[in-house]
Amino acid sequence: MLFTGRLTAGSLLALAAFGAPAAAQYPGKPITVIVPFAAGGPTDVVARLIGDHMTRTLGQTIIVENVGGAGGTIGMTRVALAPPDGYTIAVGNMGTQSAAPALYPNLKYDPAKSFAQIGIANFTPQAIVAKKGTQAGNLKDFIAYLKANSTRLTYGHAGVGSISHVSGLVFNAKFGLNPALVPYRGTGPALQDLVGGQIDYMVDQSLNVIPQIKVGSVKVYGIAAPKRLESLPEVPTTGEGGVDFIFSAWNAMVAPKDTPPDIVAKLADALSKALDDAAVRSRYVELGSTAPQGAERGPAALQKLVESEVAQITPVIKAAGVTAN
Ligand code: MLT
Repeated sequence: MLFTGRLTAGSLLALAAFGAPAAAQYPGKPITVIVPFAAGGPTDVVARLIGDHMTRTLGQTIIVENVGGAGGTIGMTRVALAPPDGYTIAVGNMGTQSAAPALYPNLKYDPAKSFAQIGIANFTPQAIVAKKGTQAGNLKDFIAYLKANSTRLTYGHAGVGSISHVSGLVFNAKFGLNPALVPYRGTGPALQDLVGGQIDYMVDQSLNVIPQIKVGSVKVYGIAAPKRLESLPEVPTTGEGGVDFIFSAWNAMVAPKDTPPDIVAKLADALSKALDDAAVRSRYVELGSTAPQGAERGPAALQKLVESEVAQITPVIKAAGVTAN
């Protein structure tokens, strides 16, 4: 049989079925990890941190490629349609993998069916942050300030369906706020504009804003978690601020569906080893993140999380009457 052109996904699988198990030779070349948001943002930071360690376990370079836009759905579509050979995977998040279906009627992937789940990468609570110099002493005063000035204020997010968009939607709806929404290709660039005072506030993943909070270039009003973060002991939770707003975010690794199970297992194992690594774990603590534990690890746990989050967030978004198109 003479090869005349590129191997199709079908013939790759046939080859895998015919020859040695796919994972035996895998990975035989660098692996591309698509991050569907701009470089420097939280999903990018997590992808590079675990990617570095997975490179060592897999003995093959992991290349992170940022493909931003449309709340991360452009990058995730790229991976859903990629050859299922283990060489194009993604780190998506709670937005792309649970909120997007309710917001994009023409979405080209189904988070629960279009991917081979590899595993959860991290959990991190949202943080409520505002530009430096905002005249409010605590969370309740800040919300009163937002209520009094809502229509002339701006809220930055990473595109419709992203975590910063959806958590902002829930926060703003809860307090009847109606700021101008300013979309970015990720919360990396959005945070730069918050530091620069071009936008007024965000609800963003703690792991993204902690470094700026620590140098005082943004103001933080609360961590949307039941407990304070180890790395920010001085920052109160929203509950301590007298406000009922808890919002936990997550990032996760996936491959195209039909990626051979033994390759998925190899990737899940490498991810799990990264999450057990002491250096990765201490960086997670610094960045207000936690690694999935025990039964939270692996493909099945992520599949369960995606299904439950889609079921939970869809009615909330529908009730808000928001769509991307
Ligand atoms: C990012 O990496 O920019 C964020 O994860 C985007 C988001 O808010 O979902």
